[in-house]
Parts: sequence; structure tokens; C-alpha cells
Amino acid sequence: MVSQDIAERARILREQINHHSYRYYVLDNPEIPDAEYDRMFRELQELESANPGLLTPDSPTQRVGGLPLSGFSQVQHRKPMLSLNNAFDEAEVTAFDRRVREAAGQDYIEYEADPKFDGLAISLVYENGVFIQGATRGDGYTGEDVTLNLRTVAAIPLRIASDNPPALLEVRGEVLMQHKDFEALNDAQRSKGEKTFANPRNAAAGSLRQLDSRITASRKLTFFAYGMGEVQGFKLPEKFSDILDQLKQWHFPVAEQSEVVKGVDGMLGYFMRLGNKRDSLPFDIDGVVYKVNDLKLQDELGFVSRAPRFAIAHKYPAQEEITQVLDIDVQVGRTGAITPVARLAPVFVGGVTVTNATLHNEDEVRRKDVRIGDWVSVRRAGDVIPEVVSVMHERRTSDAREFVMPKACPVCGSHVVREEGEAVARCTGGLYCPAQRKQALLHFASRRAMDIEGLGEKVVDQLVDNGLVHNPAELYKLGLGKVANLERMAEKSASNLLAAIDKSRSTTLARFIFALGIRNVGEATARDLARHFGNLDALIGADEEALMRVTDVGPIVAQSIAQFFGESHNREVIEQLRAAGVQWADETARSSKIGHLSGKAFVLTGTLPNMTREEAKERIEAAGGKVTGSVSKKTDYVVAGTEAGSKLTKAQELGIPVLDEEGLNNLLDQ
Ligand code: IVH
Repeated sequence: MVSQDIAERARILREQINHHSYRYYVLDNPEIPDAEYDRMFRELQELESANPGLLTPDSPTQRVGGLPLSGFSQVQHRKPMLSLNNAFDEAEVTAFDRRVREAAGQDYIEYEADPKFDGLAISLVYENGVFIQGATRGDGYTGEDVTLNLRTVAAIPLRIASDNPPALLEVRGEVLMQHKDFEALNDAQRSKGEKTFANPRNAAAGSLRQLDSRITASRKLTFFAYGMGEVQGFKLPEKFSDILDQLKQWHFPVAEQSEVVKGVDGMLGYFMRLGNKRDSLPFDIDGVVYKVNDLKLQDELGFVSRAPRFAIAHKYPAQEEITQVLDIDVQVGRTGAITPVARLAPVFVGGVTVTNATLHNEDEVRRKDVRIGDWVSVRRAGDVIPEVVSVMHERRTSDAREFVMPKACPVCGSHVVREEGEAVARCTGGLYCPAQRKQALLHFASRRAMDIEGLGEKVVDQLVDNGLVHNPAELYKLGLGKVANLERMAEKSASNLLAAIDKSRSTTLARFIFALGIRNVGEATARDLARHFGNLDALIGADEEALMRVTDVGPIVAQSIAQFFGESHNREVIEQLRAAGVQWADETARSSKIGHLSGKAFVLTGTLPNMTREEAKERIEAAGGKVTGSVSKKTDYVVAGTEAGSKLTKAQELGIPVLDEEGLNNLLDQ
């Protein structure tokens, strides 16, 4: 026996959880933090598992999925789920309206206009307010029973929010996957090495037709209601818009974009307004549905074959079309990333003619198995770059050719490399490659590199676009006449810029190395390299093994450096820079891994009078020592300044030598 109190508690929890999940999933406007919701959910789960008699089919705990089925059973729809006729232009919408007006004998007609969701049609059956069965559309008369899967869709009410629900209600609507959930799902699939979905619609379909409802539960699906099928024990209102309002009151999600419009002008205006918003909606739509708003008139108009005469779908341009791959070549990005691009037979998709689509990277080409000559499905949604989403492998002919990643950059001829574990191949001609020119100049001039004031994005654009500068060395050849001639460049700023360029001729080796823009070489690594090698030629001549002897330089960084200097194009630009008078004082090479303090462990604490902690660390490391964070038996020296705390005490306890600044200097100079 379950006590009254426990049953009442479970009832209250269910009601609260239903309310908050409605706020969250349907209204997108939660009232409580997720943790609070989770707490209530767990409490209900515990009550139910301790008292199985409490469990009801409409309990929110029943959304998590259950044991896999061996197949779906068939469900007869109580009212058929019909299709819609399509209109592809204004003339077809106008003709539809004329037919309705003539049949009705009215001057103008009121319509309910809704988004046409690009998902899967489903029918939900509620008996006395409780969700008992859900099915796919199937052939319109018989669908598949996907009740267990639909239970896991949080936006679908398991119970109608009413004290007096209809005895029987079929709710018609669409299951969708939102863009963000689609992207997340595909990311997850990719990282598991599993197949990705071509579009949100396929992802929704694949998720809904899972025999294992736990998989469906792990996918984020949502739902919008757009109508009713069979209704018993509820008096239908007069207008279709009231049906949507009623559904909303019962806590079904209804598109907030739905509107009542008048006549052809109203319909076309709605079509345009929603079309402008199409790309920013969180889910895919493929058109608009207009339905006669007067339900009596709907009945009178009736159906022709399998489509209603009282409704029509007005379609937007498709966002996915099929075309042929004429070639696959590559594009070089600003940072040298090399992206395979499919050159396509022109195809009208997403409102524009598309002739190129990105294939992202080499692995993606292999994974999708796209070949030159293949027929492919191309998608362009919103401002997103058109993308090849799938290949019609059955249409492949024997002359289809595989893509081969070029060994040389198509823009500058430098070597193309792909680092281990990296998806992207890159051009190594960073200083020389026209595709990377602007990026290279901006980085070269940046504050922590050569620090050329006034050489920002706009000026770089102008210098490059006017053909005045092809690589960083040419900056030093610029004359006042040419610079002052640039648009919006006053004489004064031109001479300031030239002075700044001139000033940058004297620099440090570390800045110069950083300025080269070698992949994986940041400021700190550039400093380590300068200190370790002392001069540029030693660095240029170092092989990967020698490079790896530098502090913090591992195989990947060493490889990037070797590849950069291995590229003759880059070495030529460096020669030109030196010839242009860029210079620095050589540092005394200090081997950073073998020195007289090699193997000694230091801990720094407190403030030193004349040295920052960072400087002290650098000097210790330059002498081969290492600096660690905490004092232990393995510590060789503790360097203590003023306000040294527990580390000093610990050192004294362990009998570890303690040095002040002078002591450290003496040790370093030994
Ligand atoms: S009303 C009798 N409204 O479009 C009218 N259908 O071609 C029944 N669809 O598979 C449909 N959004 O799933 C209606 N707002 C909307 C819709 C919509 C999408 C789908 C529906 C059906 C197809 C009909």
C-alpha cells in the first residue's frame, strides 16, 4: 500500500515538473535553475521506484526511453493524414485564393498562415487527457507506432493541461531537430567516428525511427502542433486559429510565427516576412501553409483526391539540390589552411546559383567518398557556405576520379604539409604566399612582433591591393610618394608610417623570430629559440632533433619550425629582410637544457628586490635549472624574498638551502 502522503507528494512533483518542463521546452522561458528541476525529478524517480504502484504512464520520469523493440507495429490513423498541394509562385497562390473565393461566394477570405516545418509529420493520441499513442504519418492512413520514442520528446505533453480534457484527441504536428542540436549531434557523431546526418530533417527522422528509445532520448528533438485529427468530447470552435489557441492552452507548442491574414495580399506579405526571417529561425522551414480560417468553409470545400481544397503549401526555394561535381580543387585560406572545394555544375539552391561547395578537409572527402564526376546533394542554408552533404553513390560512373591533395600550394608553390593529428593541410610558405600575404604582414607589424605603429588592417589592405607590398621585406622599400598616394592617407600619416617602419629595423632576435609567423611559435617559444641559438643562422640550420633540445619545444613545434625554414621561399624573404637592414644584436647562445645548474630544482617565494619572479625563473632555466611550485625533499634551493611565507618555513624544516637575491646571483654567475 502506498500512503496517501506519498501519493500526494508524487502528484505534486509531477505537476511541478510538468509545469517547469513546459516553461523550459515549450515557452523557452524557465522559471527555476536546472539544478532545482533535476532535484525534483530525482525525488519523483526515487518515490516511484520505491513505490511502483505510483507509476503512471504520464509521469515525466517516463521520458527516458525503455527496452528496444524488435520492430514498430502499425497504427491506423483515426482520420487520414493528408498531404498538401504546393504553390511555387504568386500566380499559384492567387489562383488558389480565387478558387476558394468562388466556391465560398465571398469577396475575400481569411486564412491562418503557418510556417511549413521541415520535419516529420506525426499524430499523437490522447485519451481523457493522457498521451497513449503516437505514430508517424506512413502512407497517410497507416503509420508506425513510435509512442516510446515520442514520450522522450520533452516538448510533447504527456498529459493535456486541462481539468476537462476531450475524451479523445488526435493532435497533428511535426517533429523537428533544431539547428544547434543538429550541429551538436553531428559533432558528437564525428568524434565517435560514426556517420553524420545530411540535414536536421534526416537527423530527426533517424532519431525518431530508433527501435531503442534510449537512443531517441539522447537526441534532442522538438515538436510543433499544427492541427487536430479525430476529436471526441470537445466542441470545436468556429475558426482554425482558435484550434491553435486551444492547443496552446493545453500546453502544446504552437509556432509563435502563426498569424491570421486576409486575402492574397495578406498571404504574400506573410510569405515575404517569414522568408526574411527564414535564415535566423532556430529550425528549418521549407515554406508556408495557408489554411482557410473558417472551419465551416473548410468542411464545405472538402478534399480532391488526397489533398484538402482549403489549404495550400507555398514553398520557398529549396535549400538542398542535386548537381554534378565537375572538379575538386583546393583553396588556400589566410592562415595557409588548404580546403578542398567541389566545383559544381551551376545549381539554384537556397535562393542563389551555387557553383562551389566546401568539402572541409581531406578526411571529409574520404568519409563522404566524393569523387570528381559524382552526383551530389548540395545544401545552402542562410549565409552558410554551400556544402556537399551527400553523394548519390548509385549514380557513379566508372570514370569518376578520386581527389588527391596537392603536394604544392596552388597559390605559391610552397610545400603542403599536414601535421599528425591535424585535419587540415597547410601551405608552408607563410612569408611568401599571396593567399597569406595580408595575415603575414599584420602579424609581422603587430605590437609584440616588429611593433610597426600605424600598420593596421586598413593600411595593409591598401598596400597589398595596390600591389605595393608582396611580403614583409618590401615594407622597407616603400617610398613616401607611393604611400602618400594611397586613398585617405595624408602626407603626415604616410611619413609617420615610414618612420615607424624604419624604426623597426632595429629589433631583437626574439621579436624577429616571432614576427615570421611560424606555425606553433608564439612569443615565449620565440624567446626560448633566440636564447638557445643566439643567432638566426644557427636556428635556420637546426634540424628537428636540435630544435627539440630547446625548453618546451616538442616534436610538433620542432616540425613546424623545420618546415618553415625548409621552405626556400621563406628563406629568400628572410634574406631580403636582412638586406633591407633589419638587424638585432646576437644573443650569447645559452644552451637551455645543459648548463651548470642542470638538474637542480628551485622554488621561488616572496618578492626579490631587483628581479621579478619571471626574470629569476628565466635565468635559472637558462642555466639549466628548473623552477617548481612547491617545496619537497627533491627541492635543491629555495629563493626567498620579502614576505616569503609557508614555502620558506617548509624549506627550513626540510633543511633545504635558502638563497636571497644576492645568493642566487652568485650561484648563477659561478
Ligand atoms: S497542415 C490537411 N501545417 O506538410 C492539412 N502541414 O504536405 C494537413 N507540414 O506532411 C497539413 N508544416 O507534416 C500543415 N504548418 C503546417 C505544416 C504541415 C509542415 C507538413 C505535414 C505534411 C506535409 C503536407
